[in-house]
Amino acid sequence: MTTAAIPSVGLVGWRGMVGSVLMQRMQDEGDFANINPVFFSTSNAGGDAPTLAGAAAGAAGKLEDAFDVETLAKLPVIVTAQGGDYTKRVHGELRSRGWNGLWIDAASTLRMNDDSIIVLDPINRDVIDAGLSGGVKDFIGGNCTVSCMLMGLGGLFKNGLVEWGTSMTYQAASGGGARHMRELLGQFGTLNAEVSTELDDPASAILEIDRKVLAHQRTNIDATQFGVPLAGSLIPWIDADLGNGQSKEEWKAGVETNKILGTSAEDRVIMDGLCIRIGAMRSHSQALTLKLREDLSVAEIEKLLDADNEWATVVPNTKEASMAELTPVAASGTLDIPVGRIRKLEMGPEYISAFTVGDQLLWGAAEPLRRMLNIVTGTL
Ligand code: HSE
Repeated sequence: MTTAAIPSVGLVGWRGMVGSVLMQRMQDEGDFANINPVFFSTSNAGGDAPTLAGAAAGAAGKLEDAFDVETLAKLPVIVTAQGGDYTKRVHGELRSRGWNGLWIDAASTLRMNDDSIIVLDPINRDVIDAGLSGGVKDFIGGNCTVSCMLMGLGGLFKNGLVEWGTSMTYQAASGGGARHMRELLGQFGTLNAEVSTELDDPASAILEIDRKVLAHQRTNIDATQFGVPLAGSLIPWIDADLGNGQSKEEWKAGVETNKILGTSAEDRVIMDGLCIRIGAMRSHSQALTLKLREDLSVAEIEKLLDADNEWATVVPNTKEASMAELTPVAASGTLDIPVGRIRKLEMGPEYISAFTVGDQLLWGAAEPLRRMLNIVTGTL
């Protein structure tokens, strides 16, 4: 693209956890060469803007005020990872003033609006392109587990092969935020400290160690962020209680999957399951039961999944490969979406299991946003 076509892009929330991952990915991929970044801050307007690798000359200047709607309204594109409260406060005001720019957002606030599109271009580039041509202006990142599931299993979902599915999730602490990750590590540390003398003594009784750990978990552990201990335990509820037995996180699976895929009412894929927080750091995992519309062989399924996009990677359904390649430790910090444990279930030939893992800060949050920006700049 020519220099004249380089758009000015407002960046908000670039210092938080998702924002930092986004900035890093944009630097790694040279995205700053395609935009004139204008950095905003909710707390430090007037401070120095960051100098990021590859940013166009003259980009670094002073931080603009992220609540200054007049300054924001001058920009053709705004990318925010600031969070839902910021979106609520600023987006409506911008639009009501007639701002007609593109809003690219990590928060869930606008996701299910009729006039927004959930961005996950390896899965729904057609939906995004149709939206852009049709005048859609709000492009929102999807829920992390939904995005990671569709990246791993796109070969089945995109080909209309899934009739219904359950996703039972094993979600990492990072989904709660940076403080939640710190709290989890703090909890592991205090649990260890509680019994370190006994652990150093191979002759100590494991049931006595377990008793002390449990007593600490029940009485003393700092669980300010999560509300209850996560280290050495789990939390079988994520996000708000919708009052019908379903959590908001579980509701998102069905509505967002169908919105991303752009399915019609009659092709709607039924998705539901339980969302669980576990003591992993930054990658979300999920165990799926899928009812397919056809009796496909495992080899055919694996071929479809592998072929769908360059990040989905089929892991052979063996103990060795599953333990080595299909874990949060293996997937974290990478764009790979390993998908494995694929086998036919006893329920019948159309019922399969699958297990997939994805870094919730990459494909679950930052990556779809930076790719949407690249679609806008014409570089993807
Ligand atoms: N709701 C997710 C979680 C965060 O709590 O893990 C990513 O959308």
